[in-house]
Amino acid sequence: MGITGYFELQWKCLVVVALRLLFLVPAGVPARSGDSYLKDNITVRQGDSAVLKCSMDNKVSRVAWLNRTTILFTGNEKWSLDPRVVLLNTAVNEYSIKILNVNLYDEGPYVCSILTNKKPESTKVHLIVQVPARIVNVSTDVSVNEGSNVSLMCLAIGRPEPSILWKFRSSKGNRIVTEGEYVEMTGITKDMSGSYDCITSNDISPPDVRTVQVTVNYPPVISRARSTGTAVGQKGVLWCEASAVPLADFQWFKGERRILNGFNGVKIENKGKQSMLTFFNVSEEDYGNYTCVAINTLGITNASIILYGPGAIHDVNNAALSPTCSLLLLTLLLTLSLLSKF
Ligand SMILES: *[C@@H]1O[C@H](CO)[C@@H](O)[C@H](O)[C@H]1NC(C)=O
Ligand SMILES: *[C@@H]1O[C@H](CO)[C@@H](O)[C@H](O)[C@H]1NC(C)=O
Ligand SMILES: *[C@@H]1O[C@H](CO)[C@@H](O)[C@H](O)[C@H]1NC(C)=O
Ligand SMILES: *[C@@H]1O[C@H](CO)[C@@H](O)[C@H](O)[C@H]1NC(C)=O
Ligand SMILES: *[C@@H]1O[C@H](CO)[C@@H](O)[C@H](O)[C@H]1NC(C)=O
Ligand SMILES: *[C@@H]1O[C@H](CO)[C@@H](O)[C@H](O)[C@H]1NC(C)=O
Ligand SMILES: *[C@@H]1O[C@H](CO)[C@@H](O)[C@H](O)[C@H]1NC(C)=O
Repeated sequence: MGITGYFELQWKCLVVVALRLLFLVPAGVPARSGDSYLKDNITVRQGDSAVLKCSMDNKVSRVAWLNRTTILFTGNEKWSLDPRVVLLNTAVNEYSIKILNVNLYDEGPYVCSILTNKKPESTKVHLIVQVPARIVNVSTDVSVNEGSNVSLMCLAIGRPEPSILWKFRSSKGNRIVTEGEYVEMTGITKDMSGSYDCITSNDISPPDVRTVQVTVNYPPVISRARSTGTAVGQKGVLWCEASAVPLADFQWFKGERRILNGFNGVKIENKGKQSMLTFFNVSEEDYGNYTCVAINTLGITNASIILYGPGAIHDVNNAALSPTCSLLLLTLLLTLSLLSKF
C-alpha cells in the first residue's frame, strides 16, 4: 500500500468518525451556525428517481454523502455497493447524487458533509418515499347459508397510510358498509347477498378496488303458482316460480303420482326460477289438483295448482269447499225429495 493509499484510508476513518459524531448531536438541539439542519424534505414515489442536491464553494477540501451513518460517496469515490446510487457531475459547485428506482428502505435522512478549512458543515435532507395504495390481501368469494356469521378482510399497503372503505352493491342499490379492513356480518340475510367492493386510496394514485362476492344460500320459497282455465283439446299450462339459492329443482305431482317430462303429452320446462308444466291437448282426466315441489340443498317446499276448465270445473272445485254452496245444494236436494213425494 502506497503513501497515498494510507492517507486515503486515514481520511476515510476521519470522515466516518467525524460524521458519526455529527449524528450524536440529538435532534432538537439548535444546529451550529453554518449547518442547515433538515433544510428540505424530498418526496418521491416508489420506483422513481431522487436527486439529492448539495452545493459547495471552491474552498471546500473534502465532501461526502451519507445515508444515515453509511458513507455513499467521498469525493468522487463510491463507497456504496448499491448500483442505484450515482454521483452527478453536473456543475463545479455542485455535489449531488441520484438514487434510481427508489424503494421504501431508502426513506430516511441523507447528509452531504463538507469540510472547509477543517470546519465541517452538513446539509441534511430527508427522503420521503410515497407508495400508491394497493390491496395486498383480500377475502375470497364466499357462499354461506342464511344466518351465518361472515367476516370479510381487505389488507392494503401504501404511504401515506391508505384508507379502506367497503361498499355494498346489489340489485337494490349501493351503500357504504364500513371503513376499515374488516366487515363483520352476524346472522346474514339474503338481502346481504351481493358484491362487496374494498376501496383503498391515499391520494397518490387512483384508488385500488377489489370485489368480494357474497352468496347467501336459502331454501326455496314459492313466489308464484298459477294456471289459466283451459278447455278440453286446448293447450294448458301450469306455472311455478321459486326463489332459492342455489336455484331450485322442480318436480310435479298429481296427487301421489309424479309427472314426468314427455309422458301423456306433457312437457316440463325449467328455466331459472321458473318451471312450466304444459299439456299439449288437455283431456277431462287432466283436470285436477297438481303440486309443484321446489327443492334445493337447504330445503323443500310445495304449492298446489289447479288445472281447471274455462270457468265450470274451477267453480265446482270451489263449490265443494264452500259451506254456502253446500247448504244451497242440500236445500235443493231436500226440495227435490219433497217434490218426489207428491
Ligand atoms: C421532513 O420530514 C420529517 C420526517 O417525516 C418531518 O418530521 C419534518 O417536519 C419534515 N420537514 C419539513 C420541512 O417538511
Ligand atoms: C439507505 O440505508 C438503508 C438502511 O441501511 C438501506 O436499506 C438503503 O438501501 C439505503 N439506500 C441507499 C440509496 O443507499
Ligand atoms: C391472506 O390472509 C390470509 C388470512 O390472514 C392468509 O391465510 C393468507 O395466507 C394471506 N394471503 C396472502 C397472499 O398473503
Ligand atoms: C354469530 O355471532 C354471534 C354474535 O357474535 C354469536 O352469538 C353466534 O354464536 C355466532 N354464530 C355462529 C354460527 O357462529
Ligand atoms: C286431442 O285429443 C283428442 C282425444 O284424445 C283427439 O281427438 C284430438 O284430435 C287431439 N287434438 C290434437 C290437436 O291433437
Ligand atoms: C289441492 O291439494 C292440496 C293438498 O295436496 C290441498 O291442500 C288443497 O286444498 C287442494 N286444493 C283444492 C282446490 O282442492
Ligand atoms: C307438500 O308440503 C306438505 C307440508 O309441508 C307435505 O305434507 C306434503 O307431503 C307435500 N306434498 C308433496 C307432494 O310433496
